[in-house]
Amino acid sequence: MILVMASTGMFGRPVVEGLAKRGLPVRATGRSEKTLATLDAPGAELIPADMDDPSTLDKLMNGVDKVLVNAPMDDQKEVREKNIIEAMIRSGNGAKIVLLTGGVEHDDALGETGLATERLMRSAGLPWSIVGPQTVMESNFKPFRELIQSDNMLMSCVGKAKVGFVALENVTDAFITVLESSKESHIGCEYVITGPEAVSFEEVATAATEALDRRIIYQDMPRDEFRNLMITEAGFTESYVDIEVMCHLDAFRAGKATRITDDFTRLTGKKSKSVKKWWIENSDFFLSA
Ligand SMILES: NC(=O)c1ccc[n+]([C@@H]2O[C@H](COP(=O)([O-])OP(=O)(O)OC[C@H]3O[C@@H](n4cnc5c(N)ncnc54)[C@H](OP(=O)(O)O)[C@@H]3O)[C@@H](O)[C@H]2O)c1
Repeated sequence: MILVMASTGMFGRPVVEGLAKRGLPVRATGRSEKTLATLDAPGAELIPADMDDPSTLDKLMNGVDKVLVNAPMDDQKEVREKNIIEAMIRSGNGAKIVLLTGGVEHDDALGETGLATERLMRSAGLPWSIVGPQTVMESNFKPFRELIQSDNMLMSCVGKAKVGFVALENVTDAFITVLESSKESHIGCEYVITGPEAVSFEEVATAATEALDRRIIYQDMPRDEFRNLMITEAGFTESYVDIEVMCHLDAFRAGKATRITDDFTRLTGKKSKSVKKWWIENSDFFLSA
């Protein structure tokens, strides 16, 4: 039985759905029964539990041999990942940890959180593998839909920095490959899943221009001006902007998201998707009313 934490989130949902469609035994969890019911995962067990309440996690572990350890990116990430790993240890069933980490190098609070979870994982006495997606195209490009429709524009504060954006579809395939293989496979392996090349936001705008058949420009802004815009115009809270947006953009600007690996190809035998192809495949999303 494969247990997937944060099953209705960006990574969890397609992983659960992909495993279920392959006929593999999968248990999906999140806090809300109603949200779990939206999964298109025939045969999957849906069990609500709260990562903030460790006493609810024990029931998830029965008969489980692999767990995708995954928690949302907020100020509770480290505590939630700790709660999952401790529940795995308590269960005594020796299940393998498949840890979702960040492929972007962070020497900030998010990086510290990741290191703390890795230290706990390595000392847990359980088998483990790490899969670290480089930053995902969907979470970087889809938020620009409205701005593209109104102003034909992408906007950020990363200058000419190059980023090894990866398609969510490739990340999903990588997780499924590791989770569907035996518990004894991939032990101690660390995979960083990236796109085929690192590109700048100006190059992203060129890919968007070609795919959408209209000129899309990249507007670079001073960091703090961009941060204020996210708060005053987009209506995000300061803590959301700092933890979930600026820490990534600061890392991009410092050249810490350029890494390209062939781990995806080694794992799946496939080629990872380029930014250019991603924009062509997603053009309807940006053009539809
Ligand atoms: N975006 C990227 O490019 C990228 C790249 C590499 C790594 N990452 C990492 O990927 C991880 C997941 O990303 P994300 O921020 O997009 O999160 P997410 O997967 O969207 O998180 C939401 C999920 O977490 C569940 N959840 C939230 N609080 C919960 C709780 N207390 N107990 C149980 N389930 C809970 C939600 O379900 P309910 O609301 O129903 O409970 C939902 O399934 C993060 O750690 C992030 O650092 C992201």
